[in-house]
Amino acid sequence: MKRLELTPRLRLLAEWVPPGGRIADVGTDHAYLPVWLRLHGRVVSAIACDLRKGPLERARETGRIYGADCIDYRLGNGLSVVSPEEADTIVIAGMGGENIAAILERAPWTAEGAHTLLLQPQSRAEALRRFLMDHGYAIRREALALDRGTIYPVMEAGGGEMSLTLGQLHGGAALVHDPLGERYIIEKIIRLQAAVAGLNRSGAEADQKHGDELREIITALLSMREEWRNAQSG
Ligand SMILES: C[S@@+](CC[C@H](N)C(=O)[O-])C[C@H]1O[C@@H](n2cnc3c(N)ncnc32)[C@H](O)[C@@H]1O
Repeated sequence: MKRLELTPRLRLLAEWVPPGGRIADVGTDHAYLPVWLRLHGRVVSAIACDLRKGPLERARETGRIYGADCIDYRLGNGLSVVSPEEADTIVIAGMGGENIAAILERAPWTAEGAHTLLLQPQSRAEALRRFLMDHGYAIRREALALDRGTIYPVMEAGGGEMSLTLGQLHGGAALVHDPLGERYIIEKIIRLQAAVAGLNRSGAEADQKHGDELREIITALLSMREEWRNAQSG
């Protein structure tokens, strides 16, 4: 039987899944995470769901190749195919922050505090953090995974309250002790500076205003970098 190895990003998510529970993996694609969790006995059951038929076929194929049992494969949009009592941990990984937020918004039961949410946005992480803050969720912990040269934030969230600064919205809610924290912040600053340079070339008033907003974020990220450096030396 072939051995299934997880990438560092999926490995971090797997480590955060509470042992002995039941997970729902939304947007499962190849179903590597639920298959790995079942093969290692980390969860008692898994629901692997995807919006599209092709990825769900791939998910079934992974389960078949590796011989994983107790996985229910479901076709559907977001959490519309999962009911709250069927899972205690919900994983939504590998899609844009706004898409993850939209999936949670359509399933308000995820904010009631009964579920652990493991979220891994591929882009627009700040949009997801803002959504969580504004819709009754709290990020309990956050960490970074380095996978083939790209840094990915992974968040554990649940129902609750939190208040994030502009710096935390963009540079991470709780990354001050993360070894990759400074690199994550610097990469963000570089991207924002490039955007500001582009906006500076335009004479339009709206672009100037947007440029000012981005400069404010850069300033907030620079102080986060200082905080990160102080935490390392302290
Ligand atoms: C890049 S894959 C990520 C696979 C895996 N979760 C991971 O992190 O490696 C994204 C998957 O999410 C699925 N997806 C996107 N939007 C979805 C939605 N609203 N509901 C369910 N699945 C969705 C896509 O069809 C695709 O298979």
